[in-house]
Amino acid sequence: MHPRLRALHALRLTDPDEKVAATRALAAWARAEAAADAPWTAPVRQPGDDQGVPGRPERPLRVSATAVPARSPFTDEGRAALVHSICHIEFNAINLALDALWRYDGMPADYYRDWLRVADEEALHFTLIHAHLQSLGWRYGDFPGHDGLWHMCEKTRDDVTARMALVPRTLEARGLDATPLIQAKLARVDTPDAKAAIALLDIILRDEIGHVAIGNRWYAWLCAQQGLDPLAHYRVLYRRHEAPRLRPPFNLEARARAGFTAQELAELAAT
Ligand SMILES: [Fe+2]
Ligand SMILES: [Fe+2]
Repeated sequence: MHPRLRALHALRLTDPDEKVAATRALAAWARAEAAADAPWTAPVRQPGDDQGVPGRPERPLRVSATAVPARSPFTDEGRAALVHSICHIEFNAINLALDALWRYDGMPADYYRDWLRVADEEALHFTLIHAHLQSLGWRYGDFPGHDGLWHMCEKTRDDVTARMALVPRTLEARGLDATPLIQAKLARVDTPDAKAAIALLDIILRDEIGHVAIGNRWYAWLCAQQGLDPLAHYRVLYRRHEAPRLRPPFNLEARARAGFTAQELAELAAT
């Protein structure tokens, strides 16, 4: 089967473990078949193939971002809720990467390879965080989760440039800013499970720099193809799709490593 149709199949799966297994198997296949471009660049989109996208389990209950309860790191349940929220982000991130891979015909083969690598790493993140959550006595779905990540995918479904601008370069980049803050919150609690969660977040932060870099790579490529000024066009997309406001503190060091330009970082620092 065409690898991007295999990605669609994985995207539609509702069971998290099955989705992880299908994603990781596809990534392993791609590593073995690294050479040929043709399987990636053949168009695959058909009318109506959005059906069943994204596949996700009935639980967690989806609520608005403001309805997610506050999570104190000082109680066992609060820490579990915090870990669950990360687990939920990683589950959504698998879908986001598979969607970027499947949805957009006409990109170079490396675009698809990049997004499959991201999907594979998100599947690993989900697996690690879910195992940690289970060690605390909870499972994915036991707390509610908000739907902000997928909502931005829907808004950018017809525009790959907007998708690259607003999902990896905006929402995933906010994760670079947020992760050290979550780690600092957990560091205030001196328990073995908090230490384990901090160590997992180190792995996630390292990999997420690469995901944002992939977003920057393809956003720059798409702007160059269309003769767009990346900074000015970003402002247009940000307003058009009502992206969430970027708030300090920013992780400028991680953002620089993810390929944001000096000018973009200077604009952020002035926010
Ligand atoms: Fe991740
Ligand atoms: Fe990511």
